[in-house]
Amino acid sequence: NWSMDDFIDMQIEKIRAEVGNKKVLLGLSGGVDSSVVGVLLHKAIGTQLTSIFVDHGLLRKGEADQVMASLEGKFGLNIIKVNAKERFMSKLAGVSDPEQKRKIIGNEFIQVFDEEATKLHGMEFLAQGTLYTDVIESGTSTAQTIKSHHNVGGLPEDMQFKLIEPLRTLFKDEARELGEKLGMPSALVWRQPFPGPGLGIRVIGEITEDKLAIVRDSDFILRDEIKKAGLDRDIWQYFTVLPGFKSVGVMGDGRTYDYTVGIRAVTSIDGMTADFARIPWDVLQKISVRIVNEVDHVNRIVYDVTSKPPSTIEWE
Ligand code: XMP
Repeated sequence: NWSMDDFIDMQIEKIRAEVGNKKVLLGLSGGVDSSVVGVLLHKAIGTQLTSIFVDHGLLRKGEADQVMASLEGKFGLNIIKVNAKERFMSKLAGVSDPEQKRKIIGNEFIQVFDEEATKLHGMEFLAQGTLYTDVIESGTSTAQTIKSHHNVGGLPEDMQFKLIEPLRTLFKDEARELGEKLGMPSALVWRQPFPGPGLGIRVIGEITEDKLAIVRDSDFILRDEIKKAGLDRDIWQYFTVLPGFKSVGVMGDGRTYDYTVGIRAVTSIDGMTADFARIPWDVLQKISVRIVNEVDHVNRIVYDVTSKPPSTIEWE
């Protein structure tokens, strides 16, 4: 007779037995899984846990602050926050190919993490938010995970970590339930999926600060209105994109020539297939009016009405 309370107690026992008085390192992404692992580990081993949070500047509005306020402020985790915005922006300058952007963001992320990890001493364990679905999908044993982590992660050869993956037997919903049981705020636990490359793949083509600001601000308004309409748990994923072209509009008695913002909202089970969400017209209207009024250099809003396939959820 398995309950989440039992699971928490069992995991804490297990983690303490395994770690002893050694030190554990955790990479926080701001997402649900790594955050839940952080809170669980902190409950088990307290200050023996050190977390690294790389802010690549491609997070949503308020996200980095929210993670810090909650995990460091409320739960007392020891977090090293690395502000790497400029590094990422300079590496991405002039790059417009989606896969190239993904590669750059992924590599830079690992590099920043490694640099910070190297500065720390005596870390014997590396904690990860691997879920049961990740285990099945990659079809790997723990040993292979370590190997692929080294391959993908490129951690220095002399840095030998033992892995701790306390969510390995859980599905996403269970990880969320665990988070709630641990007292984490529902805004953090129930957040929608967010891609590793972040807003970097929602500015179509070359990423600039100006374009990022448009995507970040319009996304914030969209999320606010979806929540107000009570749709935030029904729609699987919702965000804005900036295709990057300009079109003609009229405001007051003047002609404008400004950007179009696209709204993408889908229902889905696992992201493999998806249907566009039927957001009520009046909610869409509110979102449209607010974005045009509140975000500079936007004069047109379009709604993406394609499913996956043939489209993908993200535009890049
Ligand atoms: P697509 O666009 O392929 O997206 O239909 C399916 C789901 O995956 C997310 N996604 C990513 N997640 N790194 C990630 O961690 C990526 O490069 C990436 N690309 C897409 C997307 O947000 C959606 O939830």
